[in-house]
Amino acid sequence: MPQLAYVNGRILPLSAASLHIEDRGTQFGDAVYEVCAVMNGRILDWQPHVVRLRRNLAELGISLGIADGPLGLQARRLIAANGHSECIIYIQVSRGTAKRDHAFPNAAPANLVMTVRRFDFAQRLRQLNSGVGVITRPDNRWGRVDIKTTGLLANVLAKQAAREAGAFEAWMVDGDTVREGSSTNAWIITNGRIITHPTGPHILPGIARDSLIRLALGAQMVVEERPFTLAEALAADEAFLTSTTAPILPIVTIDGARVGSGKPGPVTARLAELTWNEVARQTGWRG
Ligand code: PDD
Repeated sequence: MPQLAYVNGRILPLSAASLHIEDRGTQFGDAVYEVCAVMNGRILDWQPHVVRLRRNLAELGISLGIADGPLGLQARRLIAANGHSECIIYIQVSRGTAKRDHAFPNAAPANLVMTVRRFDFAQRLRQLNSGVGVITRPDNRWGRVDIKTTGLLANVLAKQAAREAGAFEAWMVDGDTVREGSSTNAWIITNGRIITHPTGPHILPGIARDSLIRLALGAQMVVEERPFTLAEALAADEAFLTSTTAPILPIVTIDGARVGSGKPGPVTARLAELTWNEVARQTGWRG
């Protein structure tokens, strides 16, 4: 079956799907996006993703000419048409196609595209046993990384550096402060306290992050939303990361130095249990 994509109301083969070369997403990174996990054919946390998309569109003054209900229907239609029960759906909205000019065009409708890719979530369950390594990079991104724009060059370079170092992720460090990973939120655990950077302009408010906080609080665990330093992370008992494509993964090394025992720890394991139970509750997927 050919892969199918959605472009402004039409579903067509991915190989034939395109936007005009003067799409503002291409020329200016003037676009926002979402990535949602689909397991058992069901979209995880759809509502929070839509809320975040709407917030980002509002922040940038992009008007998307499709309401939430039809957007969800089109997303589900594309998922069904592709026929994968475990996949990710990528949703991108740009300010539209217009003659290149930095200022907003007057009457360009937004461009909405969606793609679906098969995704092996079971590998994330296997990685719970081994954990992953991260490296650190200076956070040289712009000042509003809470807006999920396609302007991801700093993130791309950081992730490539991680790849070349044999690490899973690069933590973006600003001065002494660990902000987040290039495509994941960052967490440490010290004396049973679960610590992550607060929301605001310096991190993306991850949907997986939000979900984990809710689950941890519901299990009477202690969560502190506050900045933490790299030194604190190196001295922490445990560390982990969260994102749509890696709902929770233990971090066992930072720049090659062991975190805690150098093995995935018990608090992360408990949080992973809560996370995957929630996935099963929402989607019925159990690995
Ligand atoms: N990345 N921080 C950054 C910089 C991100 O790009 C992401 C998501 C996250 C985690 O957010 P969430 O829990 O909503 O996935 C944190 C997506 C998956 C991506 O760009 O592919």
